[in-house]
Amino acid sequence: MVKKLLQALSGHAVSPPPVWLMRQAGRYLPEYRGLRAEAKDFVQFCLTPELAVEVTLQPVRRFGVDAAILFADILLIPHAMGQKLWFAEGEGPRLTPVRETKELDALHYDPAKLEPVMATIKGVRASLPPETALIGFAGSPWTVATYMIEGKGGTDHEISRALAWGDGAFFDGLIDRLVDATSAYLIAQAEAGAEALQLFESWAGTAPAGLFERLVLTPTARIVKNVKARHPNIPIIGFPRGAGAWLSAYAQTGVDGIGIDQMSDLAAAARLVPAKVALQGNLDPVLLLQGGDAMRQEARRLVEAMKGRPFIFNLGHGVMQPTPPEHVADLIAAIRA
Ligand code: CP3
Repeated sequence: MVKKLLQALSGHAVSPPPVWLMRQAGRYLPEYRGLRAEAKDFVQFCLTPELAVEVTLQPVRRFGVDAAILFADILLIPHAMGQKLWFAEGEGPRLTPVRETKELDALHYDPAKLEPVMATIKGVRASLPPETALIGFAGSPWTVATYMIEGKGGTDHEISRALAWGDGAFFDGLIDRLVDATSAYLIAQAEAGAEALQLFESWAGTAPAGLFERLVLTPTARIVKNVKARHPNIPIIGFPRGAGAWLSAYAQTGVDGIGIDQMSDLAAAARLVPAKVALQGNLDPVLLLQGGDAMRQEARRLVEAMKGRPFIFNLGHGVMQPTPPEHVADLIAAIRA
């Protein structure tokens, strides 16, 4: 059976387009909240294959999406490097910040710590319907570096930008380590059975223009090259959120698909990106939260705009926590109607 997601990622227009949603597993689903209560903390939740397999499959069972995305987190890489990571209730991720070469030198990526993720991938592949693809993922180096340096989520990343401009030895050393660890992690995911990979560059929008090539484009291209050297046929989707001005340059990194945020116009993106590169996106998550006719109408507009082009329906960012699950079912029905 040819999976629709993989068809689109090999450069074919598929009608109706395949659909999956970023953060399709998560707290908006009551069945997720039930299982989440069984784990000691979020990191252990991600690293317990029985639980992670089950939450990966929840949106597939409920909505029949065309792809499952591995249940894990982009911050498992810093965790596997030995950086202390915890999730404070209601506050998001916290890490002991790394801002000096001495602190960086104490970190060593240990792939054994992420073996449970590979067990999750194998478990999901064994129970997915034959038409559903499994997407593995990692964070891109700049995005992961912002969390490692700031020690938490942020919106401007001023400390990270200051270090990137000012302390090249530290900053490039961190990016190099992240390129190596992320490449190894994604290669292991492909070997365990992931059929496509997504690189989340969720904070591409805070990388200054004068550093964009060094922080975003080059590290992404290096990871794509490393992964493809081992697995030439695995498609890679990049998601450079907030970097609409860079789409044409981003397409040169070698990715097979590009995730488009809701701030960018899909038709304009299509003019910037070669026709063989699939576009993915970009319904505003707020419209999914609201639901109703406005959501269905906008979904149809996006599908119409992408007719004849390799396209994967998704949101412009993740599902918001208060989203009623029924709206997701309505959205998928509208796309497939
Ligand atoms: O369904 C899926 O999309 C798969 C699982 C997934 C999670 N995180 C689970 C998660 C994926 C792909 C991610 C990626 C991720 N993690 C990103 C990139 C995507 C994006 O949203 O921009 C980022 C920046 C992170 C880091 C992270 N993890 C943050 C900022 C938070 C806190 C946000 C929040 O909603 O509280 C997390 C925690 C997290 N990761 C949750 C889930 C379901 C919520 C934790 C919980 O259940 O308590």
